This record gives sequence, C-alpha cells and structure tokens, in this order.
Amino acid sequence: MVGESFGGSRGSLLGALGWGAMAENERSFRAPRGTFDVLPPQSWARSALVRLAMDTFALSGYAPIETPIFEHTEVFERGVGATSEVVTKQMYTFTDRAGRSLTLRPELTAGVVRSVLEHGLDRGPLPLKLACVGPQFRQERPQKGRYRQFTQIDIESLGSDDPMVDAEVVEVGVRFFRKAGLEVRLLINSIGHVAESCRLGYNKVLVEFLRANEAALAPEDRARIETNPLRTFDSKEARTVAVMEGAPLISDHICEDCRAHFSAVLDLLKSVNVSFELEPRLVRGLDYYTRTTFEFIAGGLGSQNAVGGGGRYDGLAESLGGGPLTGIGFALGVDRILLAMGDSGAPSRPVSVYFVALGDAARREAFKAVASLRDAGIEADLDLGARGMKGQMKDADRSGARWAAILGEDELAAGEVTLKDLAGGEQERIRIDDLERRLTT
Ligand code: HAM
Repeated sequence: MVGESFGGSRGSLLGALGWGAMAENERSFRAPRGTFDVLPPQSWARSALVRLAMDTFALSGYAPIETPIFEHTEVFERGVGATSEVVTKQMYTFTDRAGRSLTLRPELTAGVVRSVLEHGLDRGPLPLKLACVGPQFRQERPQKGRYRQFTQIDIESLGSDDPMVDAEVVEVGVRFFRKAGLEVRLLINSIGHVAESCRLGYNKVLVEFLRANEAALAPEDRARIETNPLRTFDSKEARTVAVMEGAPLISDHICEDCRAHFSAVLDLLKSVNVSFELEPRLVRGLDYYTRTTFEFIAGGLGSQNAVGGGGRYDGLAESLGGGPLTGIGFALGVDRILLAMGDSGAPSRPVSVYFVALGDAARREAFKAVASLRDAGIEADLDLGARGMKGQMKDADRSGARWAAILGEDELAAGEVTLKDLAGGEQERIRIDDLERRLTT
C-alpha cells in the first residue's frame, strides 16, 4: 500500500527513495531522487485531505494566502536561522541568471511573514489569521515519510501573544486530525523567550552540563555544544540520548512570565477537551521558535512519525527587518498524514451514479442526463467508449458508484432508466426526470 499510495507499478515511492535511477541503456526518465508523482486513484485522497484542511481552517477564520515557491535566500537564512540544519544542510539554493541567490522554500512560515511585512498586513486588524498549502523542498536523505519535495498545510496567527491565540492554533490542528479520522498524540512544551532571565540563562546551564558530559556524547553531537546546544535533545544517537536523559530541562528554567503564559495555554486547551502530553525535551528544529512549541505524532510511521509541528516565533518578523510582530502557527505534513492513514482515509473516485447506455440514441440521452445531474451537483459519469453492456457494467462497478443507471431501448422509449443499487443489487425503473430527486433523497 505504501508503494501504491505514491502511485504506479513502477513504484514511485521506490523512485522517491532513489532506486529509480536510469539505467544507461534505458531511455525513460524518472522523477528525481526524493520526489514522486501523485497519481490517481490515490490522488483523490490527497486532494480531499487538503480540502478538508482548508475548510477546517476557514471555519476558524484563517484566510488563504499564497506566497512564491522560491524566495531570496536571506529570507530563510535570517528567518529559519543560520544554525538550523534546514538552512545549513538542506536548502535547494541556486543563482539565477541575474546573479541573485534564490532558494526553493523549505517551509512556509518565513515567506508568509516576509509577505505580511512587505504588504503591511500587520497594520490591519490583528491577529491576522492565514492558511496556506504547497510543496516544500529539503535535501534530506530520503526514506519512508521523508522526501525532498513534500507538501505542507499550514496556518499562522500573527500579531497577538495572548495565550488564547496559542490555544486556538493548537485546537484547530486537533480538530483537523479529528475530522480526518487520524489519531495523533499532541506533545507540547514551552522553550521560553530569548533573554538571560529565560532561555539564554538555560542555554548556559545546558552547555555546562554538555561540557561535563562531552566524552559520553556521540562525536557528531559534540560540535552542537557551541553552535546550538538545545538541538542535542533531537539527536538520534543512542549515546547522546542516554546522556540527555539526565540533562537539565528547559521547563525548570523558563522565566515567570513564560511559565504563566504556558500554563494559561494549557488551561485553555483543557477547557476545550484537548488532551496533550507535556514533553520537556521537545525543542523543534527551526531557530525561530519561542515559548509554546508542539508536535503531532502518529503511530505506524517509524522514525518519521511527526505528522505536524509548530510553535510561537515572536522574534521572526524582526529578524526579517520588520517591527515587533508576534506569531504562532503550525505545518502538517500531507505525505506523512496520508501514509499514516493508509487506506482508511481514502475516498474512492467520487461517483454517485454511472450510466450504462446501449445504442446511439440512448448514449445521447445518457450524455444529456449526466450533464444535468452534474449541474445539480451530483457526481455522475458514463462510458465514453461505446462499449458493450458487460464492459460498461464492469466500469460502473470499478468507478465506485453507488448506482448504475441503465438505459436500453426499452427504457429510452418509456423515458425511464433502470436504477440499480450496485451494493445491494436491487433495481427499480424510474423516470429520467425523477433521477435528480431520487438520488438526493
Ligand atoms: P517542521 O517541523 O519542519 O516545521 O515541518 C512540519 C511538518 O512537515 C513535519 O512535522 C512533517 O510532517 C513535515 N515534513 C517536514 N520535512 C519533511 C520531509 N522531508 N518529508 C516529508 N514531510 C516532511 C515547519 O516547517 C514550520 N514552518 C512549522 C510552523 C509553522 N511553525 C510555525 N508555523
């Protein structure tokens, strides 16, 4: 199913993992390593999921926004942060013909904030609530659930640091997963704000601890002590993980204000029955985060089990040259959500009634009936290839339609169709003009 969910017998997922490299004597091209094609029928589930997300976000007032797929490289260097792995190791950066350095976006937040500042949206009513969706690009090592082009759906709420904003953002994410029918765990933490009295003070305590335990850390994690000590919590190296079990926790070191803010967020989440797990080791991978941070985790995905993550980024606008503008948001990984949902969330092709028509006159009548049902918002379809009765019935079954509307010479003469329930097998004759009413009741 995993292979299939990325379409095709040639195994686009295998292609995504890089096993689709072209043999020398083979003339066909393959999608680049870490990318894949989204093909029907699995593409139905994907578009339904994106629609569900945008509808859910709209219900809470998040307006759609679109920003370019590439930005000036500095937007990400300054926004996402120069010490994050996304910026140091994973960006697709290129120089255009005019010598400008541009980067395919590795995430949406920095571009959205750039856009908000550029257009002065922050001078309007706040908080400004925005939703977006689209492909992101990171040159990571491909594996199940980790691709070089992947799709995120994302919301951002800018301009208020009221704990209610944090709670709303998290709750909107939880509502989406509930509607999608995917069970997730919500891990949540506060990583404080950037001040000596808060995160910077904690960093010193952490660095001291890491130095004292340096020999026990995995060699690749030792360099992080100086560059980004918090990230040692994210290490997958068993040696480092063991050391971090005993590390001082940020939750014991954040300032009173941040502590009160976090506790208000948690109270609000409880008030709307959102369950969460406090995870004091959750630090997130991007440099812009402050205060509330969270992740949605799904089962059955192995190590790439984060189906979404987000947090507050109260200093991001200023790092992009804007004035003070607080913000919080999240991004959900569409590809991972679909993997986690397997078949359960996949709607089949949305067909309600499939016409089976025999003979030219009946086919023309079916063509007209299908058009008028579609006008009425009913998913109707028909055989476009003038196949025989057997072939058309097979197609009707394969289409996933609830009904077959059979139109032979007899029916045509009477202005009727035989409506067959494809699941139960029962059939009835009704007037063509009554089809719309019959199919909507
Ligand atoms: P992120 O944790 O880097 O956060 O990514 C969010 C989600 O995107 C992940 O939880 C995962 O589901 C998906 N994802 C990330 N990388 C890959 C990949 N290589 N292949 C497949 N899926 C992937 C952000 O991007 C932040 N901009 C979220 C945010 C919005 N924070 C505040 N506002």
